[in-house]
Amino acid sequence: MTDAPAVYPVPPDFAAKARVNREQYERLYGESIDDPAGFWGRVAARLDWMRAPTKIKDVSYKLDDFHIRWYEDGELNASVNCLDRQLAERGDKTALLFEPDDPNQPARAVSYRELHRRVCKLANALRNLGVRKGDRITIYLPMIPEAAVAMLACARIGAIHSVVFGGFSPNSIADRVSDCQSKLIITADEGVRGGKKIPLKANVDAALKLPGTNTVETVLVVRHTGGAVDMQMPRDRWYEAVVDDQPEQCEPERMNAEDPLFILYTSGSTGKPKGVMHTTGGYLTYVSYTHETVFDLREDDVYWCTADVGWVTGHSYIVYGPLANGATAVMFEGVPNYPDFSRFWQVIDKHKVTLFYTAPTAIRALMREGDGPVKATSRKSLRLLGTVGEPINPEAWRWYNDVVGEGRCPIIDTWWQTETGGILITPLPGAIDAKPGSATKPFFGIRPAIVDANGQILDGATEGNLVLLDSWPGQMRSVYGDHQRFIDTYFKTYPGMYFTGDGCRRDADGYYWITGRVDDVINVSGHRIGTAEVESALVSHPKVAEAAVVGFPHDIKGQGIYAYVTLVAGEADSEDLRKELVAWVRKEIGPVATPDHLQWAPGLPKTRSGKIMRRILRKIAENAPDQLGDTSTLADPSVVESLVKHRRDA
Ligand code: WTA
Repeated sequence: MTDAPAVYPVPPDFAAKARVNREQYERLYGESIDDPAGFWGRVAARLDWMRAPTKIKDVSYKLDDFHIRWYEDGELNASVNCLDRQLAERGDKTALLFEPDDPNQPARAVSYRELHRRVCKLANALRNLGVRKGDRITIYLPMIPEAAVAMLACARIGAIHSVVFGGFSPNSIADRVSDCQSKLIITADEGVRGGKKIPLKANVDAALKLPGTNTVETVLVVRHTGGAVDMQMPRDRWYEAVVDDQPEQCEPERMNAEDPLFILYTSGSTGKPKGVMHTTGGYLTYVSYTHETVFDLREDDVYWCTADVGWVTGHSYIVYGPLANGATAVMFEGVPNYPDFSRFWQVIDKHKVTLFYTAPTAIRALMREGDGPVKATSRKSLRLLGTVGEPINPEAWRWYNDVVGEGRCPIIDTWWQTETGGILITPLPGAIDAKPGSATKPFFGIRPAIVDANGQILDGATEGNLVLLDSWPGQMRSVYGDHQRFIDTYFKTYPGMYFTGDGCRRDADGYYWITGRVDDVINVSGHRIGTAEVESALVSHPKVAEAAVVGFPHDIKGQGIYAYVTLVAGEADSEDLRKELVAWVRKEIGPVATPDHLQWAPGLPKTRSGKIMRRILRKIAENAPDQLGDTSTLADPSVVESLVKHRRDA
C-alpha cells in the first residue's frame, strides 16, 4: 500500500512561464471545438506556405460521403519548413545531436546549415537516379543522421518515404517494399546497438531475393560501421559516391497540402501490416504545433526522444516536429542498458538535455535496476519528462517523477497512434495536473468519447471503447493502395466515428485513462504486433497445423507474446522444435515479434462453429484459470483443462 498522492499539481514556477496555462487551455480548447476551421487556420500560419491555404477543413466521416481534407488549396514543402526557413536565424544552431552507440566514439552535432546541405545533395542524387514526385522510397537505416537526411530528401522532391524499422527481417522488408512498389532503398552496411552489429545491407539483399520486390532499381548504402557487404553492381551504390559531387542547393517540389508525405506500416488486428498514409500540410502543422505546445518548447531547449525513426514517434517527434520548430534534437543510436544502466542519464548530463521523452517499458526496465544508476548522475538540466507508447503503471510513473525528475519536472503521458500522426490526449505541462497512469485531457481540437459495445456514447465517469468524434489535421488519410480498408478498419465499427482500437476509462474529473488495446493487437514494449501476423508466421512452418496468439501481462514489456501451437498430425513436440519455431517467427517477422512463451496445444478451444475462443486463451496465458468464464459453448471443453494443466510459466 502506498500513501503517494493521486494528483500531482502543475509546479507553480513551471505554470508561471508556460506557453499554455490553465485558463488558456480552457479557453483555447473551447475555441478549437467551437470553430475548428478558424482555430486550425490560425495555427497553420506557423508554417511557411508557398501558397497559403484558404480552405481549412473539409471532413465527413459519413460512410456514404467519406472524405478528410485539411488545407486543401495550400502548397508547401516539408523540407523547406524543416530546413530552409531555419537558415536565417538558426543556420549554426544544432539541428541533430548524434550520440553513437559506443560512448567512447565522439558525438556529432549537425547544424541546420549542414543538414540543409546534406539533404539537398541527397535530393539531387535521388533526382539523378530517376526518382520523381510520388515515387516510393524505402528507408532501412540505423539511428544515424542519414535517416533524417533521407526522409527530408524524399520530402524535398515529393517522393513518399516508407521507413522500415531496423529490427524487421528480410521478409518484413520485402512485404513492405512490395506493397508500395518501392523504386529505391536507402540502407547502411550495418547498424550497431548495444555493441551488437545488425546486418542491414545483408537483410536488404535477402529481401530483394523474395518475390514482389523487382520494382527496386537502386540500393544506396551508407558506410557506417565499415563492415563488409556484398555490393551487386549496378543495383547497389555507395551513398557517398552518388552524393558527394551533387550541388548544395536543390529546388524543392511544390506540394499540395494533401499530397502524401510518407507511408508507415503498422500492425492491425487482421492480415498484413497496413501502410498508414500521412499527407503534407495537415501532418506538419499538427506535429510542429503539438511538439511546441505539449513539450513547452523554448529556443534553447535540448530535446531528446529515445524512439527509433522506424516508428511514428521518431517521424513526428524526432524529425518533423522538432525540425519544423528549429529545435535541437538528440538522435541516439544505442540502447538504455549499454554499456550500463546509467546510459540514458549520462547522455542527459553530457548534452544537457532539458526535455526527455521515452517509453514506459524503458522506465520499468531501468527502475528494476534500482536508484543507484540514476543517482550516479546529475540530471539537473532536465525540466520536463514525457512517456509514450503504452499505458504507464503508476509505480513506474512515480519512480520517473521522484527519482529521475527529483519531483521537479512535470510528466506528460502522451496518448496517440501511428494513425493519429501526433499526440491527441496529454497533459499540457503548465495547465493540467497529472494523475499517474492517466493521459489526462484532450489536446486542442480533439473530441474523444467513450462508447459501449453498441456505439452508444457514454457520459460522465465511465468505461468503454475510445472513439474520436471529429478530425484533426494530423490524421492519417488512407491505407496506401487500399482506401476501402482505411474506411472499413476505422470508421465502420461505430459509424460516423473514428475507432481507436483502445479501451478507456474516464473519471469524475474528466480525465482519460487508456486501458490498452481491445482488438487483436499486442503492445510489446510499446511496439504494435498483430496476433494474426504471428499466427500466420507460425502456420507457415511445415510442422505447424494451427496457431493462436494472445498477449499476456509482462512486468517490463507491458505485454508479452504467448503462442499456442498445434502440430501437424504425427509430428512430436520437443524443446528443439520449440526453439526452432521461436527462431522461425524471428526470421519471418523480426526480433520484435519473438514469442515469450510457446505452448503445445493438442487442441484449441473452439466454438461449435469453429471460432477460436481467444478470451479463454488470454485467461490461461494470464494464469487466471478461475476466470475462464462460460465454457459451455465450446465444441470440446476438455481441451481447456489440458491447456491449463500444461501452461508455460511466465
Ligand atoms: C498505445 C505510438 C496508453 C495505445 C505513438 C495505442 C498508449 C497504441 C499511449 C498506438 C499512452 C500509445 N498510454 N497507451 N500514453 N501511447 N499507446 O501506433 O494502445 O505504435 O493505440 O503509436 O499504443 O501505438 P503506435
